[in-house]
Amino acid sequence: MSSSMAATDSFLQCLSASIPSQLLYTQSSPSYTSVLDAGIRNPKFLTNTTRPVWIITPTNASHVQAAVLCGRRNGVRLRIRSGGHDYEGLSYRSERPETFAVLDLVNIRAVRVDAASATAWVDSGATLGEMYYAIGKAGGRIAFPAGLCPTVGVGGHFSGGGFGMLLRKYGLAADNVVDAVLVDAKGRLLDKNSMGSDVFWALRGGAGESFGIVLSWKVKLVAVPPTVTVFNVPVTVSQGAIDVVTRWQAVAPSLPDDLFIRVLVQGQRASFQSLYLGTCDALLPVMRSRFPELGMNRSDCREMTWIQSVPYIYLGSSATVEDILNRTIAMDTSNKATSDYVRQAIGRDTWSAIFGWLARPNAGLMILDPYGGQIGSVAEAATPFPHRGGVLYNIQYMNFWSAAGGGGGGAAQRAWIRDFYAFMAPFVSKDPREAYANYRDLDLGENVVGAGGVSSYDAGKVWGEKYFRGNYQRLAMAKAQIDADDYFRNEQSIPPLVAGK
Ligand code: FDA
Repeated sequence: MSSSMAATDSFLQCLSASIPSQLLYTQSSPSYTSVLDAGIRNPKFLTNTTRPVWIITPTNASHVQAAVLCGRRNGVRLRIRSGGHDYEGLSYRSERPETFAVLDLVNIRAVRVDAASATAWVDSGATLGEMYYAIGKAGGRIAFPAGLCPTVGVGGHFSGGGFGMLLRKYGLAADNVVDAVLVDAKGRLLDKNSMGSDVFWALRGGAGESFGIVLSWKVKLVAVPPTVTVFNVPVTVSQGAIDVVTRWQAVAPSLPDDLFIRVLVQGQRASFQSLYLGTCDALLPVMRSRFPELGMNRSDCREMTWIQSVPYIYLGSSATVEDILNRTIAMDTSNKATSDYVRQAIGRDTWSAIFGWLARPNAGLMILDPYGGQIGSVAEAATPFPHRGGVLYNIQYMNFWSAAGGGGGGAAQRAWIRDFYAFMAPFVSKDPREAYANYRDLDLGENVVGAGGVSSYDAGKVWGEKYFRGNYQRLAMAKAQIDADDYFRNEQSIPPLVAGK
């Protein structure tokens, strides 16, 4: 028996002493593949990838602590999966050959809402849909500012920032976290006070997988009116989309905070999708005075409650509130994404060229999320998420291809994203060219593991300063405080930086 096989056998023995066997899956377990694949959200990662040797599905904190202690003792790393939406699949696969286990938090997903104090404890394995549903049940006037897609997991989303239709009014999900429960690389169970202020700072947007396993988050809930208004106004290029998008850049980041208008740009059409915290009667005069170019009118208004707006916006007008509890998603297309930040409005001529890119064969789409308001008023160093004052909007680029070809398809679509991203360089943020950590892209750079078996701080700057700007260094120092040996690591985790080195 090789020494690595012996180590992995003793890992399993160690786990079995503390975790019931029905929560452990080896590659020979009959349900290994179904458990692994149930949390894969991008079919391109179903094949051609380094898979975990074990999957652990803990049901409580002591199982998670045991997994860390057994892993460290036997030289087995853990990857942590909450909702599995990581764009590079790093919660369940490795780019490099590695012996690792996946700790899948699917069974740790309670949501406990306290409407009286407008707070909630949300476990990392819950989906955003499960969290929104519980908040909706607790009363009509409270909400939470996080992402649009109901199947996204709380664990990854909060630890990378997390934004959605309430970002201009209430900022990021991470901005509204007031406590967290973390299992660290020594297997300790820590809260906000015992983990220390630097680590608590780091968890709120600084890539959670670097610091340990966040089991649960305490969040403050936010106030919403009984009626919100949703609209979706499509404008084609022949109807003037180039002018309207050009104008939108000046308008959307400076509208009242209650009004959020994002743009989905695909083909020769820009769709202006909006959530307004108020009635149609109150919205119409704002639209008439601030953004008449869109031509939005009363017939575009859909009034509803905030919780009804969640399925309506993401799943479509016929979806019900119960539909946001569904944890399965269609797996018919694979995708590739990346992101940019815009700090100076892009000129009309460039928009005209952009629509040219979107008309090419195998083109993808762009989603433009306006900032300003609350997200922009938080100081850049207050959380790891640095894209604050001065940002006009975030761009997400995404391209899709049929999953039928397995892991190998999509060459033309990937090339489109790569070439379009290169074209956009002069028009977006620079030095560094900023990117959103939750839209992870390994093309921005990967960690280099040095001779001591620890990821290199300097090599990590290549991608780390794009995601975190000046906060990258403080993140690396927080990492050194809690996990100097770099036990929790992946291709884009924060490397440890020991002060004075
Ligand atoms: P997953 O489980 O894959 O984890 C992502 C990363 O976080 C991994 O590195 C993982 O190890 C780590 N991690 C997960 N749980 C952890 C825990 N408990 N402790 C420590 N580390 C942990 N974003 C956004 O801001 N707004 C939006 O509207 C959307 N919409 C959206 C739609 C779709 C279809 C996708 C695929 C993605 C988005 N996103 C998004 C991006 C999303 O926020 C991002 O991918 C999150 O990291 C996903 O979190 P999951 O827990 O689902 O992923």
